[in-house]
Amino acid sequence: MLTVALPKGRIADETLAIFEKIFNRSFCFDDRKLILEEGGFRFLLVRNQDVPAYVLHQSADIGVVGLDVLEEKDEDLLRLLDLNIGKCKVCVGIQEGKEIDYTTPELKVATKMVNIAQKYFSKKAVAVDIIKLYGSIELAPLVGLCDVIVDVVETGATMKQNGLKVIETIMESSAYLIANKNSFIEKKEEITTLYYKIGDVIKEK
Ligand code: PRP
Repeated sequence: MLTVALPKGRIADETLAIFEKIFNRSFCFDDRKLILEEGGFRFLLVRNQDVPAYVLHQSADIGVVGLDVLEEKDEDLLRLLDLNIGKCKVCVGIQEGKEIDYTTPELKVATKMVNIAQKYFSKKAVAVDIIKLYGSIELAPLVGLCDVIVDVVETGATMKQNGLKVIETIMESSAYLIANKNSFIEKKEEITTLYYKIGDVIKEK
């Protein structure tokens, strides 16, 4: 049996739809249940940012998670396949009408992606004071908590409706199929068979 960690929300739904296509059966979590056993798989419904932890500690053999989260966590995991779903960008945002003031001794950056932000600004040799937040990042510059934000942009609606604009794109992201390195050795046949089947469905799209 393969255990698969899925991030709650649209990516989990789209991944289960791929499994439905492959196996021609329904994969559907009951109401608030977080585990689904079906067709020889055990699916776990976890928070997006927690998928790498479940796979790293082998509580799940494989998982689906955004490249942005993989870059942020930088764990020793196998990246098997780009699923081409959950597309988004990690961007630097600022209030409309403002520009980054590079003369400031320390740029205040609010983000939930501390490592990505740190790496990005250190490459540009910009000194930053990073303020770690857990959500609603777009609010921070509006109330003076920061100068800029580093956040995920999907449609751009949240930034727009809060009077922010994208000034730089740090990376493009989409959801990847990942595997635990030991699981990949122990369950190589199961995982590679699934890998090819998922690959076929993606190509059809
Ligand atoms: C992300 C991100 C933005 C929003 C961007 O938050 O942090 O707030 O989505 O989407 P948009 O460009 O389509 O408006 P998410 O919904 O993942 O919630 P979170 O803040 O709780 O992580």
